[in-house]
Amino acid sequence: MFRQLALAAAVAATLSATAHAQTPAAPALYQRLGGYDAIAAVTDDFLGRLAGDRDLGRFFVGHGTDSVKRIRQDIVNQLCAAAGGPCVYTGRDMRTAHAGLGIAEREWETAVRHLNATLDRFAVGRRERDDVVAAIAALKKDVVEKP
Ligand code: HEM
Repeated sequence: MFRQLALAAAVAATLSATAHAQTPAAPALYQRLGGYDAIAAVTDDFLGRLAGDRDLGRFFVGHGTDSVKRIRQDIVNQLCAAAGGPCVYTGRDMRTAHAGLGIAEREWETAVRHLNATLDRFAVGRRERDDVVAAIAALKKDVVEKP
């Protein structure tokens, strides 16, 4: 009886290992992007482009060094967590964080262009790029206040 159970367990384990081998779980976007350092580098490049933009730069002046570090860390954590990585986003929700900045539709589009330029620079694959762009697009309604 025990022998039979042990055999059945062994067969089940083998079948399940085979099933896993045939249909491996897709790695999380976090891994596909290259992990924490890659996400931090993407964030830095993107923020540099936003801050250096003729029309968007005005949103990023007047923050002290430590505030800039905090915002940057919040964005890294948010992207890392959203991509399924081992980070926790502890910042404010997107609507609260951007309320009163008066970000317009056109400014949002400029930011998305910069995001695409960053993803180009890091040669992010098509599938990963689509995932990142879709995740960011979902935030638009909370960030944009003006047509
Ligand atoms: C593209 C999607 C965007 C994401 C994922 C994003 C994410 C964030 C995050 C996580 C924070 C920090 C929130 C906190 O304080 O806890 C933040 C703050 C901020 N974001 Fe964004 N943001 C986006 C778009 C934009 C755009 C388009 C602008 C301006 C044109 C902008 C301007 C700002 C500014 C100025 C702050 C600092 C607010 C403050 O603390 O005074 N963001 N953003």
